[in-house]
Amino acid sequence: MSTEHRFAAEDVVVHGLKILRAHGVPEADARLVAESLVTADMWGHPSHGMLRLPWYVARLRSGVMRSVDNTETLSSFAAVSVLDGRDGIGQVVTHKAVIAAADAAHAYGVGVVAVRNSNHFGTAAYWTRILADRGCVGILTTNGSPAMAPWGGIDKMVGANPWSIAVPGGAHGTVVLDIANIGVARGKVYAARQRGERLPEGWAVDASGLPTTDPQAAIDGLILPMAGHKGYAISFMMDVLSGVLTGSAFGSDVVGPYVPDRRSGCGHLVIAINIAVIMAPEVFVQRMDELISSLKRSRTAPGQEIVVPGELENRAVAAASGSVTLAARTVEELNDLAAACGVESLLRGPR
Ligand SMILES: NC(=O)c1ccc[n+]([C@@H]2O[C@H](COP(=O)([O-])OP(=O)(O)OC[C@H]3O[C@@H](n4cnc5c(N)ncnc54)[C@H](O)[C@@H]3O)[C@@H](O)[C@H]2O)c1
Repeated sequence: MSTEHRFAAEDVVVHGLKILRAHGVPEADARLVAESLVTADMWGHPSHGMLRLPWYVARLRSGVMRSVDNTETLSSFAAVSVLDGRDGIGQVVTHKAVIAAADAAHAYGVGVVAVRNSNHFGTAAYWTRILADRGCVGILTTNGSPAMAPWGGIDKMVGANPWSIAVPGGAHGTVVLDIANIGVARGKVYAARQRGERLPEGWAVDASGLPTTDPQAAIDGLILPMAGHKGYAISFMMDVLSGVLTGSAFGSDVVGPYVPDRRSGCGHLVIAINIAVIMAPEVFVQRMDELISSLKRSRTAPGQEIVVPGELENRAVAAASGSVTLAARTVEELNDLAAACGVESLLRGPR
């Protein structure tokens, strides 16, 4: 039996939209959430794709995440504002913050939006790409529930705390870095469990601190930071920006999206820098081209090629040409979810 199914991406978006609508999410917000998740699948990041929808729905049902956005601007001073997401859906709250940051960047040259009391927003790149499309350098940080130990410790107390930087890349498309500070995003461990696969060695240790390739043991244990102590230190600082500075929860108090009945408390920091204030956008893009072209002239190891951040995702979307591939188990879960709220099933099989 096939372990994956291919669909028209728009069909999956509409499926997610209907499920969210059935849980009280307004149409435009439901589309935004579904599109952001399906885009992650199209980029080749299923860990942050439609696999997450059942988790989001469980949180909507328990009421710890609000279906209807009630984000409030708590304060605003020149280019800086503070938003309270009031436990709204992370994508919906973050979209508001990103638009506010872009508007401020166009008015003042820079826009900074601190967001508290939000929820999981999926991939950080979905939002920084919007800023790059608006002529900005887009920077976004978030904090998340504990995923790793502080360097030298064995207690899970530090989030993976992803961050993203995106810029317009001219002929190369948007250039965007989007990483969590663990060696591998926890969602990839869930995705491996979903696909019945073992983990590569070096990703995780079990609850007693011993190396493991079993996804469940890794979920119950510890995922190692990227780059040793540096990954821990970067993650620490992302929590300072996303949680401590924004007035949101931080450290072990942040709750993950897979917990159905506890509010998240996660925070985000959005920074937009208007490139046109520093140099003509076409000059910036030309300089990006020069940088990228020079790197691509590097000699390569056998069978390797040079790519820049964001390039693999750009290529994946182009290659998918409007389709998306989902793990069979994800399709089953989506269809179970749909059946429970009176939404028709996704049609199985290639389209
Ligand atoms: N919202 C949350 O709380 C949360 C938590 C964890 C992860 N995430 C998301 O999970 C996703 C995956 O995170 P990850 O840490 O596993 O990322 P990853 O290790 O897959 O790295 C992805 C980044 O590396 C770049 N990249 C990949 N190969 C490259 C190469 N050969 N050369 C240059 N650049 C290359 C990609 O373009 C991308 O920017 C991200 O979108 C992240 O935002 C979200």
